[in-house]
Amino acid sequence: MFSKDSNDLSKIDPEIFSIIQHERARQEDGLELIASENYTSQAVMQAQGSILTNKYAEGLPNKRYYGGCEFVDQGEILAIERVTKLFNAKFANVQPHSGSQANMGAYFAMIEHGDKVLGMNLAEGGHLTHGSPVNFSGKLFHFSSYGLNLETERLDFNIIRETAKSVKPKLIVAGASAYAREIDFKTFREIADEVGAKLMVDMAHIAGLVATGLHNSPIPYAHVTTSTTHKTLRGPRGGIILTEDEELFKKLNSNIFPGIQGGPLEHVIAAKAVAFKEALLPDFTTYQKQVVANSKKLAEALMSKGIALVSSGTDNHLVLVKTDSVGLSGKEAEKALEHAGITCNKNMVPGDKRSPFITSGVRLGTPAITTRGLKEEHMVQLADWIHSALTNSTNEDHLKKIKMQVLELCKAFPVYK
Ligand SMILES: Cc1ncc(COP(=O)(O)O)c(C=O)c1O
Repeated sequence: MFSKDSNDLSKIDPEIFSIIQHERARQEDGLELIASENYTSQAVMQAQGSILTNKYAEGLPNKRYYGGCEFVDQGEILAIERVTKLFNAKFANVQPHSGSQANMGAYFAMIEHGDKVLGMNLAEGGHLTHGSPVNFSGKLFHFSSYGLNLETERLDFNIIRETAKSVKPKLIVAGASAYAREIDFKTFREIADEVGAKLMVDMAHIAGLVATGLHNSPIPYAHVTTSTTHKTLRGPRGGIILTEDEELFKKLNSNIFPGIQGGPLEHVIAAKAVAFKEALLPDFTTYQKQVVANSKKLAEALMSKGIALVSSGTDNHLVLVKTDSVGLSGKEAEKALEHAGITCNKNMVPGDKRSPFITSGVRLGTPAITTRGLKEEHMVQLADWIHSALTNSTNEDHLKKIKMQVLELCKAFPVYK
């Protein structure tokens, strides 16, 4: 029976309550190495779970199509002020419901249906919205791609420049979902200028590092920068768009609403504002430094055990493991680690001969485990467990033993106290 006054979900909807309890236990009791995930603060969730979800507010602050927006206006203005300060950007739209929506809004503001775009090859680190044929980006625009230098397994600006000159795109997209090295946005802009293209940077994965100065910022170089708010940035699920160009900003705003979205999620925008406030605190820089220190330590410890990594290391929050080096496909490795209490995702590696459903790699990230308090010494232990699980991948008893040890560590570092 509907009751707007009861706040006891366990009684109103025991099925959903139970699902949440199980998911909570899963998040607490395993090591979360999915590079795009994190644990938000209780404060972020409090804002997101608030009565702001009831409000319609089509339009922008102080320019709405609905009455009664005086308070959500204040929340959205705060989110904009904080995110522009955080990234030292002039203009921000905080309404995209997700990273994909942010990218869609950005494309629509800069290019036309059928225009040529150059983005990073999906098999070598790019994202679906960077031109996959099964995604709107690949369906609406004419994407070509640049890959990595297969010897160094890094971006190679000679290759990118040559590809850009031959493709002559209207837009170049920089940014990745699975790339462990720092990206040089200045050189990307130089190439864009050389071929008369605009530059869009999708910094979704590295936004937390950019915010704290641990990765060079795309803001001065990109015509438009997009991001998610829930990965290294540790906010609620959502997207943002930043720019230095006032004319483009107007186009971005109108392409988000009414272009591709309806009413903004003001409860999520309030939660974004909370996350941006948290990210402006000195603690957040300490956290991001630890994310990178942990990732570097994990990389070093895995390699010392003979596990090969793409580009033999990392500059950021993730490492890409070549699972062939332990005789497994990415799919097999993901499964073995899952049975050992360690969650990650299979991932293509440069030159991968296997399909995206099988792959020859796994992607491991440190943002979530760093939020729960793990440090370098734990990375050495983690690398031991990973090696042990991957080299005993079909021995369920062995994997179970690792899982018990993982659980013990997790109990010592609870996520939510
Ligand atoms: C680089 C990059 N851009 C965009 C996205 C899309 O974000 P969302 O899942 O919020 O649509 C992702 C998500 O993984 C990503 O890695």
